[in-house]
Amino acid sequence: MAELKDKRVDEIQGEILHVYDGIEEADNELPNWWLWTFYGAIVFSVFYWFAYHEFESVPLPGEAYAIELQQRSGGEVSEELLVAMAGNPDAIAAGQALYATNCAICHKERGEGNIGPNLTDEFWIRGGGPIQIHDTIANGSLQAGMPAWAGPLGAEKVQQLTAFVLSIRDTNVAGKEPQGERWVPGGAPSDGAPTDAPEAAPGVAPTEAAPTEAAPTEAQAPTEGPEAAPSEATGEEAAPTGALGEGTAPNEDSLGG
Ligand code: HEC
Repeated sequence: MAELKDKRVDEIQGEILHVYDGIEEADNELPNWWLWTFYGAIVFSVFYWFAYHEFESVPLPGEAYAIELQQRSGGEVSEELLVAMAGNPDAIAAGQALYATNCAICHKERGEGNIGPNLTDEFWIRGGGPIQIHDTIANGSLQAGMPAWAGPLGAEKVQQLTAFVLSIRDTNVAGKEPQGERWVPGGAPSDGAPTDAPEAAPGVAPTEAAPTEAAPTEAQAPTEGPEAAPSEATGEEAAPTGALGEGTAPNEDSLGG
């Protein structure tokens, strides 16, 4: 900062007080209209903070969206609704409370698995998509020992439980070893329904290949036996999917934790 020895008065800026690296600075008052938008923003931020975050008397946009979808759904579940609910802290909290009383006995407090599978890893017996998780909770898997919850709890609570399970999905809490197929979001047009894949590729044992990722491989090596690691098939037969091939060996990488 250099004080000017001989002060200059600029035609537009007025009196020039400082020059920094050749940039001249005057000290004029801010216009009142500008100041009022500034003070207004400060006042609004206080209102906003208390209304949206402190007392939560107004739902945040994501929550409002979930609530409205729920009201308009007329009881129909859709992936959009479940995803929106999974972004709504209230729905997740309600689901978490229901989970603690009804599900934690078999899936453990944080979903790491006990009698029931680990709900936090990438591997799903019955599919990790929102609708798939919802349907598993609603209808159960009676032979495997997973009760159906649509009857005892009702549709809305099943949706809240789904929101909670979606919120812990892929958090990889160390616990029960992976079971089922690696499930990748959006990995297949059919929402990655792994149970359909064995029909499409009869030669591939359902527990050995992750159908959501390995679809090209299955098409090219349909007669691979269950012993063949999918990565071998990918590496040799399909160069472009070679990188994915490592990921398709379901029993290797996420065992560590
Ligand atoms: C009596 C034990 C038991 C209880 C209670 C239970 N589950 Fe399960 N759950 C299981 C078993 C066993 C499976 C595996 C089902 C299979 O192999 O098809 C399972 C599977 C699941 C799956 C699918 C997992 C996958 O890998 O595809 C989800 C999601 C799930 N349970 C959620 C819940 C929720 C939410 C609740 C509470 C409302 C709950 N479970 C209560 C035993 C239980």
